Amino acid sequence: MFRKERFAVPDRSLAAVATATTGHPGILSWVAEVAELTAPERIVYCDGSREEWDRLTAALVAKGTFVPLPAKPNSFWCVSDPDDVARVEDRTFICSEHEGDAGPTNNWVDPVDMRTVMTEHYRGAMAGRTMYVIAYCMGPLEAAEPKYGVQITDSEYVAVSMQIMTRSGAQVWEKLTGDTEFVKCLHSVGAPLAEGQPDVAWPCDKTKYIAHFPETRTIWSYGSGYGGNALLGKKCFALRIASVLGRDEGWLAEHMLILKLTSPQDKTHYIAAAFPSSCGKTNLAMLEPTLPGWKAETVGDDIAWMRFGADGRLYAVNPEAGFFGVAPGTGTKTNPNAIATIEAGNSVFTNTAFTDDGDVWWEGLTEQPPAHLIDWRGEEWTPESGSPAAHPNSRYCTPVEQCPSVAPEWNDPRGVPISAIFFGGRRATTIPLIAESFDWAHGVFTASVLSSETTAAAAGAVGVVRRDPMAMLPFLGYHVGDYFAHWLAMAEREGAQLPKIFQVNWFRRSADGKFLWPGFGDNVRVLKWALERLDGNAEAERTPIGFVPTAAALDLDGLGEGYRALIGAALAVDVDEWVHEIASIDEWYATIGGNRLPDALRAELAALKLRLAEA
Ligand code: PEP
Ligand code: NA
Ligand code: MN
Repeated sequence: MFRKERFAVPDRSLAAVATATTGHPGILSWVAEVAELTAPERIVYCDGSREEWDRLTAALVAKGTFVPLPAKPNSFWCVSDPDDVARVEDRTFICSEHEGDAGPTNNWVDPVDMRTVMTEHYRGAMAGRTMYVIAYCMGPLEAAEPKYGVQITDSEYVAVSMQIMTRSGAQVWEKLTGDTEFVKCLHSVGAPLAEGQPDVAWPCDKTKYIAHFPETRTIWSYGSGYGGNALLGKKCFALRIASVLGRDEGWLAEHMLILKLTSPQDKTHYIAAAFPSSCGKTNLAMLEPTLPGWKAETVGDDIAWMRFGADGRLYAVNPEAGFFGVAPGTGTKTNPNAIATIEAGNSVFTNTAFTDDGDVWWEGLTEQPPAHLIDWRGEEWTPESGSPAAHPNSRYCTPVEQCPSVAPEWNDPRGVPISAIFFGGRRATTIPLIAESFDWAHGVFTASVLSSETTAAAAGAVGVVRRDPMAMLPFLGYHVGDYFAHWLAMAEREGAQLPKIFQVNWFRRSADGKFLWPGFGDNVRVLKWALERLDGNAEAERTPIGFVPTAAALDLDGLGEGYRALIGAALAVDVDEWVHEIASIDEWYATIGGNRLPDALRAELAALKLRLAEA
């Protein structure tokens, strides 16, 4: 049985494996420089093998970080320090050379100052620990221009998680020859061990920095072991640094799922959809359609890199190899594919609860909670405890290829051609179930004013409406106004065949607080209408905010009577609510700065005001 003493088991068991697996001069000199600064006990170049996984997970079990799960093959449960459970947006920095390039939505510190401050934190930070050097590739290894990263970390938890989340190890070392470019990712939990000092289960520091240096394609992370702060391929590289690469190279790095939809007539479309964290992206990515004959297959659940193909269409690639999903709310009813993915094993669970029969549990996994659990704080828990057993931001980390709904082409280096892009948030009012934008510029406008109620995925208050442009607010590597200009410029590319843009809201509520739409598998009804619009085969009403389906145009066959009665309210465009919304959009645009907000968006806002006034 689990006991609290497990927090104080010393780690001296890990065998040294210090052969440099690379001849890349840039990597070797950087590793030497970081080792000199951080003073690790040993250096391990990770090969990404199963043997390495077994060695690392055994070490994590030995020191009390991981508890093996007898109920799932090759799977582990762990709990973090209670103060290290989410991304820390207030400690996340874009350290561009010019402050103006970070823009009003990012924290900025001069890169020289940040390096000076963080260097002192890194000095001796890896004492008593192993320094792992992890080579990885974001996206398929056979891509025309593969994007590599190398992460140095002193965390076994991170090394294990990176094996799941990225293509990593020997296959990448082989390709990282000579002067191959890579993103330098330096990570330390910031918890050096003195001679003889026992380790704790979740080492971290009170002080945290998640710093990005866009000009030098470098990431420095210090003090946290949590996913988005520490698995640097994910948010730091694949979104913040990649958004800058995309700006410079003419492509888009976006916070989007990628989904393949096939109709009963066997017509296939790929869609991308952006939602803020913890708004159901993974559930939509693994949708089980409730409409007969429809098939949905998963390409990605969190990040899409979209480049123009020779035919002028946008092709999307999932740069990741794993899902780092929010566990609470995930169950056999809401997301059977996610459950099957984790049942296949080879997974890590962080800050969920632990059951008496050696399995994990979280709110929403089953209707009835078990009678007894160990909660995410490591305390005894019963349904009477009155607090959640799993942290609301507890996570499963699991390989994409185990997902039963994965599309065979998920690993295709060419990516998949995107027909439609959806932008959604969590809004109790105002935003209808779906609205189609009039054109690309109007779609970019609606995405630029996307908003959502905050969730537990980031530290801070929950339930506050904030603007979250393109669901990228926490993940933008440069000025938000320049980012909008980059989106608008996609239409200027010769021969561009851009996707249609839609806004959606699965979370609208009635005055008495009840959801107006069931969501989950029934969202296919909304997607079906959108795909029919691509071919001009679905009825819509032109409203001030875009084309909204008539109730008759939505396929509601088999939808419960209760929700049928609410469909009018779910689709309503209420002018009074929108006038209120406009005031908040005005405020948001005012923060961007007149010289960097594209005129085209200001014009879109003016046109919307006019349409509302005339409505
Ligand atoms: C994360 O926080 O590690 C993460 C995957 O981000 P998100 O908040 O988008 O889930
Ligand atoms: Na891997
Ligand atoms: Mn995300």
